[in-house]
Amino acid sequence: MKSSAPPLLSILLLIIFSLTLSSKILVRRGGGFSSIEVEEPSLVLRNKVPVFNSTLLKYAAIDVGEAQAKHEIEELLKGRFGSRGRYGYSVKARTSKGVLAMLRSPQFHRNWLDFRRVLHDWSRKKRYQPEIMDELIGLVKGPIDRHNGLVVSERRYGSCAVVGNSGILMQKEYGELIDGHEIVIRLNNARTERYERNVGVKTNFSFINSNILHLCGRRQGCFCHPYGANVPMVIYICQPTHFLDYTVCNSSHNAPLIVTDPRFDVLCARIVKYYSLKRFVEETRKPLDEWCSVHDGSMFHYSSGLQAVMLAVGICDKVSIFGFGKSASARHHYHTNQKAELKLHDYEAEYDLYHDLVNNPQAIPFITGTFKFPTAMVYQ
Ligand SMILES: *[C@@H]1O[C@H](CO)[C@@H](O)[C@H](O)[C@H]1NC(C)=O
Ligand SMILES: *[C@@H]1O[C@H](CO)[C@@H](O)[C@H](O)[C@H]1NC(C)=O
Ligand SMILES: *[C@@H]1O[C@H](CO)[C@@H](O)[C@H](O)[C@H]1NC(C)=O
Repeated sequence: MKSSAPPLLSILLLIIFSLTLSSKILVRRGGGFSSIEVEEPSLVLRNKVPVFNSTLLKYAAIDVGEAQAKHEIEELLKGRFGSRGRYGYSVKARTSKGVLAMLRSPQFHRNWLDFRRVLHDWSRKKRYQPEIMDELIGLVKGPIDRHNGLVVSERRYGSCAVVGNSGILMQKEYGELIDGHEIVIRLNNARTERYERNVGVKTNFSFINSNILHLCGRRQGCFCHPYGANVPMVIYICQPTHFLDYTVCNSSHNAPLIVTDPRFDVLCARIVKYYSLKRFVEETRKPLDEWCSVHDGSMFHYSSGLQAVMLAVGICDKVSIFGFGKSASARHHYHTNQKAELKLHDYEAEYDLYHDLVNNPQAIPFITGTFKFPTAMVYQ
């Protein structure tokens, strides 16, 4: 019989691993970038209902890494941390002040139980359920409005600016335009100081991936507030071990930390894979089976920016997209020295999706026919 409480050693390892898994290495990517055309604000076209290619739909629905991810979660719930993470992160133990502080914490047992509960609930919910798009208002906007003392309603925000981190932001002065939106969503805690004229100053919430939270988790008090301690964060979990960071940070943060619903993650993954497969066939004329080897199969992932845009699609009447796109004359990020994007994303495929979002949202697969798309616009 296995005891439900994990051995102490495993718990120690969990904490150490959780605090030391380093974020993904940066990979240079060759090839040029296509860029999005600047579009006039367009009426949402509802008359062009496309027929989706069933082969593409079928392939897009396959989650190559699913079995491995399930296994990894089962092991974590049992308190075992020997396996390699889904995304091939190497696990390397390092001591840190944070680990020691946490070990001495009287909260420790509590955190462990919370971690298991949250991870368990999350993994049980993980499935394809497109109606999730209509639940985003209740799941994300609700807690944020409540935190801000606003009346919680089913109303969408009138307008949202999603601000990506591309260096193209430095080529225009969109700051005031961005701040003019009812809410401003920023990505991965990119800073705004010194860039106000280009990126604006207002932030209503920050959308981050859990690698960012993991880095914050190593700091005293889980410090993670580039926009002020009162600004909520929405987090996409890219590794289940990051729920420990979540558990620790959630108890020390003032503002809500909201983990994206796993059904929303599944939906975004399918949509992006569909666009990636489509582009792959159109460009290479190779069979779909070969997509996996080109795009790293189980490593393949949508970007944080993509999910932030899809979130805005669910909670706003009007979505303005800033700082998404490439240009040979612009840096990859406006605020870092990162040279190129991560290879595990297919940005060109994501741009195809934004193009459809602006021009013909009905062409986006896997969304229910009754979902009401906002008007969208890409600023470059
Ligand atoms: C769907 O896409 C696949 C892969 O590109 C292609 O082989 C097939 O002919 C397409 N089917 C239809 C009905 O267009
Ligand atoms: C968005 O943030 C600004 C600046 O912090 C704030 O004044 C405004 O009330 C926020 N809007 C909503 C809808 O929460
Ligand atoms: C996170 O913290 C908030 C506020 O303390 C709490 O209401 C919520 O239940 C916590 N979330 C989880 C999943 O434990």
